[in-house]
Amino acid sequence: MASNTLSSREFSFLALVTAVSVLLLSRALQGGGEPIYTSLALSGLAYASTYYLIIQTAPSFLKAGLKGKDMSKRVQKEIPECVGAICAIVYLLIVMIFIPFAFYQDIVAATSGGGNRDVVIEVEHVNQGRFLHWFPHNKLASYLSAILSLQSITILGIGDDVFDLRWRHKFFIPFIAAIPLLTVYYVDFGITSVVVPNFLQNILGAELVHLGGAYYVYMGALAIFCPNSINILAGINGIEVMQSIVIALLLIINDSLYLLSAYPPPATESHLFSLSFLLPFLGVSLALFWHNQYPATVFVGDTYCYFAGMVFIVVSILGHFSKTLILLLLPQIFNFVYSAPQLFHLIPCPRHRLPKYNAHRDVLEPSVVQWTAEKQPRAYAAPAMRLLAKLRLLRVTYRQDQDSGREFFDTSSNMTIINLWLVARGPMHERRLAWELSIMQLLVGLLGLVVRHKMALFLFREDNLDLGNAVV
Ligand code: UD1
Ligand code: MG
Repeated sequence: MASNTLSSREFSFLALVTAVSVLLLSRALQGGGEPIYTSLALSGLAYASTYYLIIQTAPSFLKAGLKGKDMSKRVQKEIPECVGAICAIVYLLIVMIFIPFAFYQDIVAATSGGGNRDVVIEVEHVNQGRFLHWFPHNKLASYLSAILSLQSITILGIGDDVFDLRWRHKFFIPFIAAIPLLTVYYVDFGITSVVVPNFLQNILGAELVHLGGAYYVYMGALAIFCPNSINILAGINGIEVMQSIVIALLLIINDSLYLLSAYPPPATESHLFSLSFLLPFLGVSLALFWHNQYPATVFVGDTYCYFAGMVFIVVSILGHFSKTLILLLLPQIFNFVYSAPQLFHLIPCPRHRLPKYNAHRDVLEPSVVQWTAEKQPRAYAAPAMRLLAKLRLLRVTYRQDQDSGREFFDTSSNMTIINLWLVARGPMHERRLAWELSIMQLLVGLLGLVVRHKMALFLFREDNLDLGNAVV
């Protein structure tokens, strides 16, 4: 990072964002503090403060030893690492500031106040009139449980960036961090049945399958998967933040589909709730993206990856659309499944699997596992690797033993979606690679949403865009 002061262009832009946000906030307050505009205004302020704080605090990260080498550059400079902590902290403060704006109307204006939960305004007015746009007080528990989970994951992330924790020590922490969410889900919603697709209904003889406790295990597993899946789709400038921004945008589109249609209140509440967590997330992430995009001046650290993953878990569990989230995480799921042989050490997994930098051409190429005559893939792995190579899902080079004429594995590409993209598309510049992968994520996600809302009718009797709050 060249300096820790804002350039005049940056200053003007941030001043503009701040002024527009303050204006929007005062307008929202005049209108009684309508949450969606308040949230938008606070997200603008979150963007401006994150952007400014990253520039201001970057030298302190270096001084504290929180730094990493940018490996895909001719000169491998050390730049601040763990800067995602700034995002997470600004985010947590902003969502706390939002609490009185979101709940004031319902707790104070719609009731007789003083902690009473009686509704003094007619129920129809609360459910259908302007009050529909405010958060009811029973959402406060959800809101606070979300903050608790996000705080826990932020502590884990910072701990990991500082101490480089072992897998076995950190694996179950996201599950534990999700317990507040799961408890609120149990008390407030508690639906653990899933709708059976039409074609299976005759075979199973039921329209619903009751999963009971297994549904909580599934949500807990998702809480472990999501933060980690973002952390392993990493290693080139911008990619961690870009994929998170794309997923957040897709979730915002999904929420807007519900909010723009005529809905019964429970569904609108869930998606309004989700938006109030996603908009500030977008604010802090866009600011981080600006500093982390190629050529990066800061690294996001594990803190950001875990925190981003947990934001998605929070909104999807409390918004009751955890299965929609899975459709938006297809590239991360593919990356995990494809990585599994290395993650479970069936194939050696180096500390870093990021692509290899070709300084001569300034492009990235797939990084590889180097095999030797003594250390060859295990008997069961070798045929699978040959098959993947035939299917062009792995780049393998072979070597022939001079004496015996036997063929050996020489190298095989590291099994990440980033390397696979390079295998399929050829070497490319780091910036282009990050953009191509993010565009792929966007297209896959958009397709996922279309499948979710349009094709769902082939599989299920109704899409819940028509049902309100039923779980499909
Ligand atoms: C995960 C991946 C690892 C990948 C790393 C990159 C698995 C199991 N682990 O490990 O393969 O190499 O993320 O983030 O898949 N870096 C860059 N350029 C970037 C981003 C990171 O050079 O744009 C390097 C820097 O040296 C940075 C380091 O990666 O210091 C961060 O790695 P870290 O987040 O600690 O790795 P893991 O999350 O453990
Ligand atoms: Mg990492």
